[in-house]
Amino acid sequence: MPYFLPVLLTLIPLLISTSSSQPTATVFFPGFKSPNLSTNLTLTGSAEIQANGILKLTNDTGRLQGHAFCSSPFRFKNSSNGQAFSFSTTFAMAIVPEYPKLGGHGLAFTIAASKDLKALPRQYLGILNATNVGNSSDYLVAVEFDTVQDFEFQDINDNHVGIDINSLNSTASLPAGYYIDGVGLVKQNVSLQSGETILVWIEYDSVEKLVNVTISLSSKKPSLPILSLKVDLSPFLQEFMYVGFSASTGLLASSHYILGWSFKINGEAQALDLSSLPSLPRPPEKHTALTVGVSVSSVVLVITALSVAVYIFMKIKNADVIEDWELEIGPQRYDYHELKRATNGFSDKALLGHGGFGKVYKGKLKDSKTQVAVKRVSHESKQGLREFMSEIASIGRLRHRNLVQLLGWCRRRGDLLLVYDYMANGSLDKFLFDDPKIVLNWEQRLNIIKGVASGLLYLHEGYEQIVVHRDVKASNVLLDDELNGKLGDFGLAKLYEHGSNPGTTRVVGTLGYLAPELPKTGKATTSSDVYALGAFLLEVACGRRPIESNVSQEEPVLIDWVWEKFTQGRLFDVVDIRLNDKYKEDEMLLVLKLGLICSNDAPMARPNMRQAVRYLDGEAELPEVLKPSRIYEGVGEGFDTFLHSFMSSTFDNTSSYSFTDQNGNGRTSIVSL
Ligand SMILES: *[C@@H]1O[C@H](CO)[C@@H](O)[C@H](O)[C@H]1NC(C)=O
Ligand SMILES: *[C@@H]1O[C@H](CO)[C@@H](O)[C@H](O)[C@H]1NC(C)=O
Ligand SMILES: *[C@@H]1O[C@H](CO)[C@@H](O)[C@H](O)[C@H]1NC(C)=O
Ligand SMILES: *[C@@H]1O[C@H](CO)[C@@H](O)[C@H](O)[C@H]1NC(C)=O
Ligand SMILES: *[C@@H]1O[C@H](CO)[C@@H](O)[C@H](O)[C@H]1NC(C)=O
Ligand SMILES: *[C@@H]1O[C@H](CO)[C@@H](O)[C@H](O)[C@H]1NC(C)=O
Ligand SMILES: *[C@@H]1O[C@H](CO)[C@@H](O)[C@H](O)[C@H]1NC(C)=O
Ligand SMILES: *[C@@H]1O[C@H](CO)[C@@H](O)[C@H](O)[C@H]1NC(C)=O
Ligand SMILES: *[C@@H]1O[C@H](CO)[C@@H](O)[C@H](O)[C@H]1NC(C)=O
Repeated sequence: MPYFLPVLLTLIPLLISTSSSQPTATVFFPGFKSPNLSTNLTLTGSAEIQANGILKLTNDTGRLQGHAFCSSPFRFKNSSNGQAFSFSTTFAMAIVPEYPKLGGHGLAFTIAASKDLKALPRQYLGILNATNVGNSSDYLVAVEFDTVQDFEFQDINDNHVGIDINSLNSTASLPAGYYIDGVGLVKQNVSLQSGETILVWIEYDSVEKLVNVTISLSSKKPSLPILSLKVDLSPFLQEFMYVGFSASTGLLASSHYILGWSFKINGEAQALDLSSLPSLPRPPEKHTALTVGVSVSSVVLVITALSVAVYIFMKIKNADVIEDWELEIGPQRYDYHELKRATNGFSDKALLGHGGFGKVYKGKLKDSKTQVAVKRVSHESKQGLREFMSEIASIGRLRHRNLVQLLGWCRRRGDLLLVYDYMANGSLDKFLFDDPKIVLNWEQRLNIIKGVASGLLYLHEGYEQIVVHRDVKASNVLLDDELNGKLGDFGLAKLYEHGSNPGTTRVVGTLGYLAPELPKTGKATTSSDVYALGAFLLEVACGRRPIESNVSQEEPVLIDWVWEKFTQGRLFDVVDIRLNDKYKEDEMLLVLKLGLICSNDAPMARPNMRQAVRYLDGEAELPEVLKPSRIYEGVGEGFDTFLHSFMSSTFDNTSSYSFTDQNGNGRTSIVSL
């Protein structure tokens, strides 16, 4: 005891002087509205401060990165003893995905050596790039809120919180959530990309050498952190560091927002109250029209009702029958005469081409002057029409930049007219095959491929139902005026509830793009779309149709030909000669190999659309070794065997089969039993 006392006595003033001389720095943004913001925050990339006081790091455009850092660096450690200081931060964030459940990539609270990061978007979250990831001289500490699972960085899932030190391979990570207070270790999951405001607390204790991360959907901080990592941050921080946020998007995109932020070195960050922060504008309510209607006087209502009745009666008399289910249909209903006028009375001059179900005309609507494509479908049975209409009702609500938008429809007597966005450059096959006037370069082709893949991912995962397109091929990909690829012709699409099993249907599609299991199972699945995507990738890269009957010297089945060249180590032999060898070899290799993997005979060997998109976006490496795409041996006799198995199973079954020939000329029925 007597020995210790003097020691303690000398320590006390030391402790006091240490704590009193420790620098503190504070940041407090309860919303981002103060007039001094521009001097305090440096915004780069897509980051901007909105008029409503919300810091928006990215919008939902692809491949963006946005940064917001305090303009001046803060002293993060003691230069003489090299120890990092404690710090604490709390902020409110919201991630709004482009499509429900389909967004990316994520947001990170970031402490970095520079506020001008030379980083990449996508899985790099705007904080690191491919050359400096994992380098100990990066001096980068971040807490990531990641909504995409990247295998390259060993992500645990697509909704996690992770502590990143000089790498995106998180040192520690856990599914996003919080522990409910007072009930032991009961965890409540939190969906990061729900669009809801999430409050985050991050603390570093320099004595305990502990980083805690806590999240919550309310202003009250749960007492247990979701993530607690024992780590001394001193070696990873320089004396002066910049602090702020980074977010990025890839093929999958979300808007990333920070609604308020507070930060403090050597102390507890000032608390934020969710109710006093700016809030994201809610999407407009759907029933406003109805509310307005109710407030209108009843006299007007009766008159309106009467005139509607008269109108409907006149319509019925005109044999332009409106049925209940037609009135509920989403997209706009067009007037027959308007469409007739728009297309010059469906004149041959306005004819754009023949689709699977009928003729397509170019039209110009009088009032809006917009150009449209009008498809005239002829239908036979009432049942078929009803089915078709109910599909239009759902498909009309699909919205994606890589899908041809259905604007509306019209039905009159034997005619069913569908009105679509007009695609100035027509269908892709014209640019690929035969003798195209304009040869698409590789960059344009790759852009089209990525677009179609992202449109398909939306159909499979991004909509309230699973949509299987069933007829993915170059002639169903249309190009807008900027040569962006848009998937069209939903005439064969099937919708299923998520989690349900697709039922058996007629086998339809186009020979050469039809997955071999289809005739056997009769079930169109997302995996059979992936098969068709594989054939599509190969045709775009090779400039050749999947089945070419009049190539004498070569293998007639494209997949078999590519596989053959691949096994001979001469894969680049298959590349479209019209590209004049002007392409990036790694990109070409990716597309060709992915084409082979997707069009594997065995559905289990194919990736799903999300994986395919990930490969295309460079987020995951393709497997080194490819499985043979044919189940049976013997390359070369491939097509015969395929066709035989196709034909025999066709005749074995009692349902009817039909397909379009590969030039897209009409749907030929092989057999109807
Ligand atoms: C840094 O550490 C040295 C040695 O431990 C100490 O004397 C000094 O007061 C510390 N400075 C700060 C700012 O904490
Ligand atoms: C902005 O910077 C000034 C001067 O550096 C500081 O006084 C002020 O508190 C800062 N504002 C915020 C919101 O952090
Ligand atoms: C904020 O900006 C105003 C005007 O630009 C200036 O007068 C004031 O000193 C600034 N305040 C701080 C804390 O920097
Ligand atoms: C999204 O942000 C980018 C970069 O700031 C900008 O170029 C683009 O116009 C924005 N898109 C939308 C739809 O606001
Ligand atoms: C990667 O980041 C480092 C450090 O910020 C930078 O020096 C380098 O130029 C970047 N590399 C690329 C390819 O952007
Ligand atoms: C890490 O980065 C430093 C500085 O940027 C560089 O000199 C060094 O070669 C890099 N180390 C590795 C392993 O890439
Ligand atoms: C990421 O971590 C895993 C396991 O911790 C390791 O196998 C892998 O090599 C790491 N990858 C990178 C890029 O650091
Ligand atoms: C919470 O998330 C985990 C991991 O994603 C999952 O295994 C678990 O079933 C989820 N729990 C609830 C109640 O949804
Ligand atoms: C971090 O969390 C642990 C519990 O896991 C707690 O004991 C500790 O006090 C927390 N530290 C800070 C700085 O909040």
